[in-house]
Amino acid sequence: MTDQTLDISPLPPLQIGDYTLQVPIIQGGMGVRVSAHGLASSVANEGGAGLIATVALSVASKHYKKRKDYYRANKLALADELTWAREKSPKGIIGTNCMVAIRDFEAMVRTSVEYGAQMIVSGAGLPLRLPEYAAANPRTALIPIISSLRAAQLMARRWFKTYKRLPDALVFEDPNTAGGHLGINREQLFDPEHSMERVVPELAEWSRKQYNDEIPIVTAGGIWDRADIDHALDLGAKGVQMASRFICTHECDAHDNFKQAFIDAKEGDVVIVDSPAGLPSRAIETTFTKALFRGKEVATDCFATCLSHCRCRDSEEAFCICSALHDAQQGNMETGLVFTGTNAVRHDKVISMRDLFVELNGRSLTDSPR
Ligand SMILES: Cc1cc2nc3c(=O)[nH]c(=O)nc-3n(C[C@H](O)[C@H](O)[C@H](O)COP(=O)(O)O)c2cc1C
Repeated sequence: MTDQTLDISPLPPLQIGDYTLQVPIIQGGMGVRVSAHGLASSVANEGGAGLIATVALSVASKHYKKRKDYYRANKLALADELTWAREKSPKGIIGTNCMVAIRDFEAMVRTSVEYGAQMIVSGAGLPLRLPEYAAANPRTALIPIISSLRAAQLMARRWFKTYKRLPDALVFEDPNTAGGHLGINREQLFDPEHSMERVVPELAEWSRKQYNDEIPIVTAGGIWDRADIDHALDLGAKGVQMASRFICTHECDAHDNFKQAFIDAKEGDVVIVDSPAGLPSRAIETTFTKALFRGKEVATDCFATCLSHCRCRDSEEAFCICSALHDAQQGNMETGLVFTGTNAVRHDKVISMRDLFVELNGRSLTDSPR
């Protein structure tokens, strides 16, 4: 552990709706259970916003005994996770990540609001009805994930027309570098047209001209160190969302084997997998992905019916993503799918959240309790 603070200036705070992030970093939601209450509360204690990924939370919970429990148990497990996160971080900013593509999207949003999530970040589809599902608490900040200026314009116009509200922020996710599901077709991957360098300045200018900067732009994908954050802010972002960087921390909720896969990853080990959701996704090469690429049948039993459209359930063409992500989080690297951003190979050890924030922001808020 480093004792000293580093001689770098603190990052500017980020205002999102009613909430001030003392450090302009949102920890990206990582399902299944890679970002649960442990990771989210530790980021919140350091002054960022910690997000609990809501997808399939139940499967490793005490509420799940058999398959038919899945949806009811997801709600109970999310209520537990939010309660525990709040206990561990009474003053920090805790939110959730709710994916439009999952069948219990609405239930996850409603449960998030009921159990005090201060923000909801929502992607894997356009969250057109999010304000309606979150209406019970107008203070909950609502933050769509988008991958283009067009999607941002559509979201803002629709929400304003239908609900008289604007997104409290927008997360732009760069498909060229981000982890998990990517918001474009395989053919469009690695096109500079969709990169942070191209899209973030456009979004920043649009927010400034159309909305007087009322919609802060947060960029996600490939953010690793302080230089990356400074670069993102120079492009016009007001904050960053980081996910892969948080995996090799003691506080991350995944099994040690999951973290070790990142430490062991070498150049060339990050691959693109076609997910049953019909989107490309980024993952570390494992026994699972090798079998998949050889055309072997892997994890074809759909046990959760988690996705609204699923090539595994509907046409038995793919694998059960819930099962594969759950196995990885539990440390089973033979059958597990390990999502990652392109930065996977940069991990060389597991560190504490405190040390990571000292590296990124020059100091740790947990050294002087708030
Ligand atoms: C292990 C893992 C799981 C993820 N799960 C989700 C998820 O459940 N929902 C979501 O919207 N994004 C998910 N993502 C995407 C991240 O939230 C984030 O936006 C993206 O990975 C940022 O890029 P970075 O990992 O390079 O920081 C996941 C990413 C990873 C690495």
